[in-house]
Amino acid sequence: MTTLHVGGASPYDVHIGRDLADRLPGILGERVERVALLYAGELGAQAERVARALQDHYDVHGFGLPSGENAKTADVAVQCWEALGEAGFTRSDAVVTFGGGATTDLGGFVAATWLRGVRVVHVPTTLLAMVDAAVGGKTGINTGAGKNLVGSFHEPAGVLCDLATLETLPRDELVAGLGEVVKCGFIADPVILELVERTDPADLTPDSPVLAELIERAIRVKIDVVVADLKEQGGADGHPGREVLNYGHTLGHAIEKHERYTIRHGEAVAIGCCYAAELARLAGRLDDATAARHRSAFARVGLPTTYAGAGFDELIGAMRVDKKARGSQLRFLVLDGLAKPGILAGPDESLLRQAFEAVAR
Ligand code: GLY
Repeated sequence: MTTLHVGGASPYDVHIGRDLADRLPGILGERVERVALLYAGELGAQAERVARALQDHYDVHGFGLPSGENAKTADVAVQCWEALGEAGFTRSDAVVTFGGGATTDLGGFVAATWLRGVRVVHVPTTLLAMVDAAVGGKTGINTGAGKNLVGSFHEPAGVLCDLATLETLPRDELVAGLGEVVKCGFIADPVILELVERTDPADLTPDSPVLAELIERAIRVKIDVVVADLKEQGGADGHPGREVLNYGHTLGHAIEKHERYTIRHGEAVAIGCCYAAELARLAGRLDDATAARHRSAFARVGLPTTYAGAGFDELIGAMRVDKKARGSQLRFLVLDGLAKPGILAGPDESLLRQAFEAVAR
């Protein structure tokens, strides 16, 4: 097992290994009496094992959540609050989440808001949730106006990345999670790219030491970023801060919205990173080889690097309402070289259009 420490005002540890559920009581501590286990409904049998690890120590209340983004609604949050109320949850009780990013986001939000905040431990079961949603304290739900518009920062008391849970994850989901991992390679840790480039992608299985190293490295990238800029207020010394994690997300989010969220997040991010690289190249900020490396690295793990589902005019509107936009000015996270992130603010629409041509195949 590897343990990565997250410093800051509310420090916690991220444990990466196999069969880690028995570690939950050690993280939750002895003051906790009741635990709400909020789990992705389809993972009932696996959640049962987590419940067993808790039952000798706590009064455990299991709540199966609707699948995927259907969990991230105000209605589901209300149902959870009502259930916590009926079970008499106090400020010293706790929430454990078990599932993908939607479970982590909703469960974290319920924990952040119940009695203005109780302890939460995340046990992410998808690669995407391990390297992104479970670490960094972002919680939230969706509303009619968009995704993640309601939420709060609430850091977990601990995160258990149990690699054994990836064994039942469909291959396409694992590959999509690699989109965020490769993104971390470009924004901060080029060793990730070297590992991807020298490993047969078929060998990136849940039991492979290389996948474990990729996960550890991606989580370390995320930890370094959130410790420096938890609330996305901007970094020091010209670093964009937490915003760097949104590399590839401006076009990526626009594509997800256009596809009505039927495209996997990691797939959209892969296309978005290739777009951002092309944009930086055309703006004279990124060299040709690093832009080309984007296409080869994402394609190598099985992710798309081009998009033919919509034209530029259909996507530009969604890009303008991206969270990074300031007023009416578009902002893109770009690279000035490998692991050298910067901001491209207010680029000409002609440049945006020209860069799109490179990914619109
Ligand atoms: N998923 C991006 C972030 O945590 O800031």
